[in-house]
Amino acid sequence: MEQLIDSFGRKINYIRISVTDRCNFRCIYCMPEGGINWKPMDTLLTYEEISFFIKVAGKLGISKVKLTGGEPLVRKHLDNLVSLVRKTDGIKEISLTTNGTMLPVYAERLKDAGLDRITVSLDTLSKDKFKQITRMGVLDDVLKGFDVIDSAGFTKTKINTVVMKTINDDEITQLIEFAHKRGYDIRFIELMPTELIPNWKDYFISIKRIKDIIKDRFDIKSSDKKTNGPSVYYKTKDGYIGFITPLSKAFCAACNRIRLSSEGDIIACLGHDIRVNVKDAVARKDEVMVEKLIKYSIKIKPKEHSMLTESIHSTMSAIGG
Ligand code: 5AD
Ligand code: SF4
Repeated sequence: MEQLIDSFGRKINYIRISVTDRCNFRCIYCMPEGGINWKPMDTLLTYEEISFFIKVAGKLGISKVKLTGGEPLVRKHLDNLVSLVRKTDGIKEISLTTNGTMLPVYAERLKDAGLDRITVSLDTLSKDKFKQITRMGVLDDVLKGFDVIDSAGFTKTKINTVVMKTINDDEITQLIEFAHKRGYDIRFIELMPTELIPNWKDYFISIKRIKDIIKDRFDIKSSDKKTNGPSVYYKTKDGYIGFITPLSKAFCAACNRIRLSSEGDIIACLGHDIRVNVKDAVARKDEVMVEKLIKYSIKIKPKEHSMLTESIHSTMSAIGG
């Protein structure tokens, strides 16, 4: 089998697929309060088109697929897409990132369809702060989501937490305890600058600082645990804690991924607005052309992001982080 390698020698074996730009939350760092102009449904790749794309990508050495959004589960019957991808040669792992609210409806079906694991975004355990951060969300809905993940038999569940100074940096300890008690890993993510938060520097707190806060409370040892992403893991006696530092360039050096937007743009780097559209080629089922476009997007994948000098994609929501 072929293996995609980019111009800087990075092996590309992981794709994040955004199945919708829609979401039932409006997190302050991700979406404007009034939502965005949602893409019309008929411009989205169909599940058949997405799975055709993945079939071609699978032949080129992509072996891991992450389904994201917006909120992926607001697109109807995502389990149907999981079933299609499950049958694709070369795809070894399918995972999902979700805000958790729709899991009571879908967890069992996703398990039956062959989804391997789930990551849930959770920034706070306080009802009020949850409302403040997500604007529309209800914490209890997400907490129910965790229960159904467990009862459906999912393991290797992860929690992703974006840490923001003065908002949730006082909850780091509680979030770790919550995750580890349930047998989940937790990963802390640095806030990425977007134009939604022009004053992002007021909220930014570095992973280095977060680690210091954690060290005061937990005995942490570095760990060689590796997952699909650029997360660096530490171990406590109860579980793993990961740290994701998007603003660090070292993060880019280990990049193994590309993204596919819901409208069929391959986005080779989250930190540059360079897109290669595959919608027509996919709709025609033109395997040769899709392969060419994937290879082209990998060839022009930038060495690193420029997030400190220009803000990234104005609405990260449409790309799923
Ligand atoms: N900074 C950091 N992470 C972000 N996400 C979205 N926007 C941002 C941002 N500005 C990520 C978070 C969230 C997921 C859906 O996308 O991890 O939980
Ligand atoms: Fe929705 Fe996730 Fe964006 Fe929040 S961060 S608005 S849950 S897509």
